[in-house]
Formats: sequence, structure tokens, C-alpha cells
Amino acid sequence: MTNNNPIGVFDSGIGGTSIWSAIHELLPNEKTIYLADNKNAPYGQRTKEEIVALSKKNVDFLIENNCKLIVVACNTATTNAIRELRADYDIPFIGIEPAIKPAANNSKTQVIGILATQGTLNSELFNKTAEMFQNTTIIEQVGHGLVQLIEDGNLNSPEMTDLLETYLRPMIDANIDYLVLGCSHYPYLIPQIKKILPEHIQIIDSGEAVARQTQNVLREKVGFSDEGESEPVFYANANPSVLKSILDNKYEVIQKDF
Ligand code: DGL
Repeated sequence: MTNNNPIGVFDSGIGGTSIWSAIHELLPNEKTIYLADNKNAPYGQRTKEEIVALSKKNVDFLIENNCKLIVVACNTATTNAIRELRADYDIPFIGIEPAIKPAANNSKTQVIGILATQGTLNSELFNKTAEMFQNTTIIEQVGHGLVQLIEDGNLNSPEMTDLLETYLRPMIDANIDYLVLGCSHYPYLIPQIKKILPEHIQIIDSGEAVARQTQNVLREKVGFSDEGESEPVFYANANPSVLKSILDNKYEVIQKDF
């Protein structure tokens, strides 16, 4: 099955590029369009209704641009809006959720930590999944302020280090052996997180799993492109410079209202 239309990927900002990179690496022949809704970031503090409305607006733009499949590269948007998106649009959606299952199943201490946004941790979808692991103590921590600092380009600031210390120290004291990064922005913090966590604590994020799932859905339902490698397209609806720099200035970022 062949389908040469692009894959659409969206997030509130630059975080979803951690997922986009995994997709681009696994499926280099697929055209991709990435949307950073950074005018409306962060999503994490918003109501479910706002997150659904923003997600639909992003999806409308990607569908206008002929996307064949949409990756919701944002845990907050997935856990609050993917059901509504699937109900309203006739196109496959792939979402990202905190990887509780592999962490809980592999944990020896039966204590795991989850760092995510308020919106994700409050969502019904997240709480239903968490309830399935009654034998594991799940320490939930909202990463207040982290996304804003990343979006402002302050990844390595002393303020970031202080926040991470505050959020991770109680988890270390509670004897976690897995830390789940439940927000697509947080993989960019892994070098700093590693400086705080003892070595035996594993860090998990879901980027590669989402890329593999995208490949499966293309194979089974949508079709792969047969046009060979093509330049990805990036859009931001506010300042494009942080997105550009997280992509190592390798790609142009188009600033456009959507
Ligand atoms: N990167 C997003 C997530 O995975 C959203 C963060 C935000 O905008 O608060 O949750």
C-alpha cells in the first residue's frame, strides 16, 4: 500500500520534536509536518476543554495540509483530547502517554516515579492506566515550570537544576528504580536528570515506542511513501527560534498563524 501524503505531528511547543526525531529516524522516507503551538504553550495548566479545542485547531491545519496520519506528540493533549479527536475526525491518530506499564512491570522496588504536567496527571486516561498497577507505588510529580523554562530556551539554567532537585529528591528518597518522563519536553532534560539520579534508576520515555507504532499503523492501514527522502516542514505560531535551535539549526521553521 502506497500513500505519499505527509505524517502530521503536533505539540504545544518544541517537546514533540523528541518524538518527531524518533519517527524521522525510523521512517526517513516519510514526509513530515511538525506544528509547535507555542503561542498557546504550556498546555499543562489548561482545562480539558481548552486542550481539546487547541488540539482540534492543530488537527484542522494538518488535515488542510493533507496529512495521512496524525501523531499527538504531547502527553497532555493525548490524555485529555485523543478520544474527542478520534470521535470527530476520520484519520488515524497516534498518541503518547506516560509509560507506566514497562516501568511498573520491571520495577524491583515496586516504587516508580512519574514526572508529567498537571493536565496529564489529572486526566481520566492517566488515572485509569495507573489504577491497573495496584501493586506498585506510583509517585506522581507535576513538573511545574519545566516546560516554560524549556520553551524560553533556559534548559541549563540554575532555576532548572533547582526545580529538578526539588521534584526528584523525594522520589529518590522513596526508593524508585524507574522514572517515567510523562511529557515530551522532558527528554531534553535527561542529561541534567542523570546528574541528580543515582545510576541504578532507569529513565523511560515513549518516543521510540510511538515511532514503532506509527510504522505499524502505516503498514496495516495507511500506506508508506515511495518517494524517497524529503525535507521535513516545521511550523511555529510564535517565536520560531527555540524550535530552530533544538533542531540544531538544520531546518527552516516557518512562522505562521494556525
Ligand atoms: N509536551 C507536552 C506534554 O507532553 C505539553 C507540555 C505543556 O505544554 O505543558 O505533555
